[in-house]
Parts: sequence; C-alpha cells; structure tokens
Amino acid sequence: MKDKLQALHAEAMAALATLGNARELEEFRVKYLGKKSVFSELLRGLGGLSPEERPAMGQAINATKATVEEALAAREAEILAAARAQQLLDERLDVTMPGKAAPVGGLHPLNAVLNDLIDIFRSMGFDVVDGPEVETDHYNFEALNVPADHPARDMQDTFYLTDNLLLRTQTSAAQIRTMEDRKPPIRILCPGRVYRADEVDATHSPVFHQVEGLVVDKGITLCDLKGVLEQFAHEMYGEGTEVRFRPSFFPFTEPSVEVDVSCPECGGKGCRVCKGSGWIEILGAGMVHPRVLAGCGIDPEEYSGFAFGIGLDRLTTTRHKISDIRLLFENDLRFLNQF
Ligand code: PHE
Repeated sequence: MKDKLQALHAEAMAALATLGNARELEEFRVKYLGKKSVFSELLRGLGGLSPEERPAMGQAINATKATVEEALAAREAEILAAARAQQLLDERLDVTMPGKAAPVGGLHPLNAVLNDLIDIFRSMGFDVVDGPEVETDHYNFEALNVPADHPARDMQDTFYLTDNLLLRTQTSAAQIRTMEDRKPPIRILCPGRVYRADEVDATHSPVFHQVEGLVVDKGITLCDLKGVLEQFAHEMYGEGTEVRFRPSFFPFTEPSVEVDVSCPECGGKGCRVCKGSGWIEILGAGMVHPRVLAGCGIDPEEYSGFAFGIGLDRLTTTRHKISDIRLLFENDLRFLNQF
C-alpha cells in the first residue's frame, strides 16, 4: 500500500505540472482529491489492514493528499497570475497615442442664415409658424386674391398634383392659414420650401426657400413695414445699410413694393455683387389687400396689415458670396464644410 501511495504521489505531481487552465485544474481536483478520487479509494482500503497498521497508513495517506492539495493551490495561483499578466498585456492602452477626432456636423448655410433671420424677427415679437408644402389652390391662390384664370397665375409656374392640389409656390399661403386661426394682433414669420417649375440655372431652382412675414393690427401702415425692414437690414447687413421701396405688384398686397438694400459689399458705390447699381433686391412686400383680410374674417375697416416675402436662398448666396444657387442643394461636403 505504501508503494502504491508513493506512485500515486509521483503521478499526481507530474500531472500537476502539465495543467494549464481552469478546466484542467478542475479535472485534476476531481480525479485526485474528490470523493471518488484515488486517494478516497485508498482510504476506503484501510479497512483491509490490521488495526495496528491502520493509523500510520491513514496518516500517510492524508499527509500525501495534503501535499498534493498544497501543490494544486500553488499551481492554481501560478495559472491565475499568468492569465492576469496575459490579460494586462492584451488590454494594454497607449495613452500617449493621438486621439481620433469624431466628425462633427454643422448647420447648412441656409439654416444658419434662417436662424439669424428668425432671431432678428423674434426680437421684434414675431412668432414662427409652419405651413404645409402641399397646398390647396384655395390657400396658395384663391384666398390670396388670385382667382382661376387671373393673369397673375402666370407669374408663378406651378406644379399641380391634381386640379386642386399643388406644391405651394409661395409661403404666402401660410398668411391665410394664420389669419383664419388667430385674431389680430398677428405677428408671424413662416419659413419654408416653395416650388416653381423653373429651369435650373445659377440663379433658379425648382425648389427654393421663402420666409413670409405678416403683421396685422389696428393702425398698421407702410411706415411700420419700412421700420421693421430697416431694423432687419441693420441687424442682418450692418447699421449703415439703407432700405428703399420700389413700386411693384402682388395681387394680395396694395400697395405693393419691391425692397432693396444698399449693397453690403460696396456700400452702394457699385460693384460686381450689385451689378454696379449699388442696390440688392431682397424681398417683395406690401399692405395686405383688404379683400384678403375680409376673406379671412378680419374687418379691413378696423384692421390693416403688411406682409413681406424674403428669398432665403438669395440672402444666403449674397451673404456668403456664393456664385451658384445649385451649390445650396447638392449637399457636396466639400462645399458645406466651408461654413
Ligand atoms: N409671395 C410673393 C412672391 O413669392 C412675395 C410676397 C410676399 C410679396 C408677401 C408681398 C407680400 O413673389
């Protein structure tokens, strides 16, 4: 039995040295130290010995088992330490490496200019409202004093979806929706996309952007319109900027004006930007036609109002000296990253 014990010890120690991971350690534990292990079997064999032999043999077996247990614990610690060292090596982080900058998006120039514009008008008490891009003939034309067959329809080449539905040609449609919904005093700004069947070139696009403004209250006059637009021009282009009105025609305003600002590039002396004239046209405007007010249930004897429509694309191209409006719609990052 002693020989057997010695052989077993030698075998266990040799096996221990070959263990490499947690699973092998566990298998070893079961085989040599568990309930059904070889050592347990030896202990059970003690019954066959004489009572004199039994204690010494029992002790020898337990002592041997203890040395194997110790050796196993030591081997386990070794394996764990090696695994930990390997993990540290694998997860090593070089904190001196240069970082990777995450790409950051930016505002499209149209949105940036629009935000400035909204800030300016908000400070004068305007609310921003939204309107649908698919409009009915009523809101886009009829209610704006442009009945069917009116020659003014030719001013705007319209995309019709059905006889009655169209892509709005002007944000003015939002004027009507607002006047139907709200009681005066009204002060709103409606920015958005508009559509006209224009040929594409450097200054035309079938989709572009307008910002409609509308003020309705008691005693509103053309002077109020001029004051508001001057304030806008000063904040948008600088204090010295001048505003001038030229007579014009829109079916839904009377009188109607075309509004120019002194050229922000040359200050009015004449340059390439203003084509030598010293002025740049930025919007159309006028006093809301009494018929339009009445159609929305607002008494034109009691109230008056002005409206204006700013071309946002034009505003953006002049501000950033962009030579071709198409650049605003192509979403070429090489262009957009410059802003
Ligand atoms: N809606 C007009 C256009 O698109 C611009 C405009 C708006 C004129 C408001 C007067 C008042 O041409």
